[in-house]
Amino acid sequence: MAKVKPTKGIVLAGGYATRLYPVTKTVSKQLLPVYDKPMIYYPLSVLMLARIRDIMVISTREDRPLFKRLLGDGDRFGLSLRYEVQPRPEGIAQAFIIAKDFIRDHPCCLILGDNLLYGDSLSGILQRSIPHDHGAKIFAYWVNDPERYGVVLFGDDGKPKDIIEKPETPISNWAVTGLYFYDHQVYEIASSLKPSDRGEYEITDVNRTYLEKGLLEVERFGRGIAWLDTGTPESLAQATIFIQTIEQRQGLKIACLEEIAYRMGYISRQKLESLASDLKQSSYGGYLIKILGEWGKTGS
Ligand code: DAU
Repeated sequence: MAKVKPTKGIVLAGGYATRLYPVTKTVSKQLLPVYDKPMIYYPLSVLMLARIRDIMVISTREDRPLFKRLLGDGDRFGLSLRYEVQPRPEGIAQAFIIAKDFIRDHPCCLILGDNLLYGDSLSGILQRSIPHDHGAKIFAYWVNDPERYGVVLFGDDGKPKDIIEKPETPISNWAVTGLYFYDHQVYEIASSLKPSDRGEYEITDVNRTYLEKGLLEVERFGRGIAWLDTGTPESLAQATIFIQTIEQRQGLKIACLEEIAYRMGYISRQKLESLASDLKQSSYGGYLIKILGEWGKTGS
């Protein structure tokens, strides 16, 4: 049997984020802080927990040097990171065209750079989802305001029946999250799309093509998972408060990339010690030093 190729990761972090103007007039939304770390740390942490280590970050031309300065070649986190430009925000599905030579015939996972996912069962769900070498897998989350998202209708058999982008009259409350797993067909499918009425290459059209082929799996996240939005000043502030509340209650960080890299075995203890020492002026660095001390005692 042919060996399944490793899954490639894509973080899509382009767009103009006009709903956050003037804040995002000069800085990318995905670089804004969500409490104590830049927003892009959250989707990157999801890929890392899924054991995806070869990752492309797609951003605007102006923001690319900033992402590079923040994350480098990924070595700090035991990752291989590369950067590409989306000249204009012409749709989420364009990510696969931009990443064609990176994905080649590998399965891939796309995550939107503004999606925040958190929950105890998340790592298990992610690790069960790869490699996704046959069809597509996406996730649905029950929300109050489905008209803002791609929405899935499930049949009585629990299988997806229809999927619509931002329906005026929602067909259900199940919103599609910005986390998508695809097999090697995704480039072909994305490159055959026509722009939608709003002029975008829609990710929902990619998913609908898989659905029509009978190759779309939709897993429903339960209420133990938090999926947060950061698109408006209110939702960004709420995300910050959410992360702050949990981190302060537990004394543990969410989406601390250095910690995840160490726990997942991507970097050594010595490397973590040196990263912690570089960051020691900040509470983030102080946290790394603290957990290194605690692991030293318990061996955990
Ligand atoms: O968050 C999940 C939702 O994301 C899905 O339910 C929808 O089906 C999907 O279309 C998308 O809807 P949004 O309205 O949230 O898409 P938005 O245009 O806000 O883009 C989401 C992120 O992707 C945002 O951080 C900017 C980035 N993006 C978007 C587009 C269209 C790009 O980097 N390039 C693009 O061309």
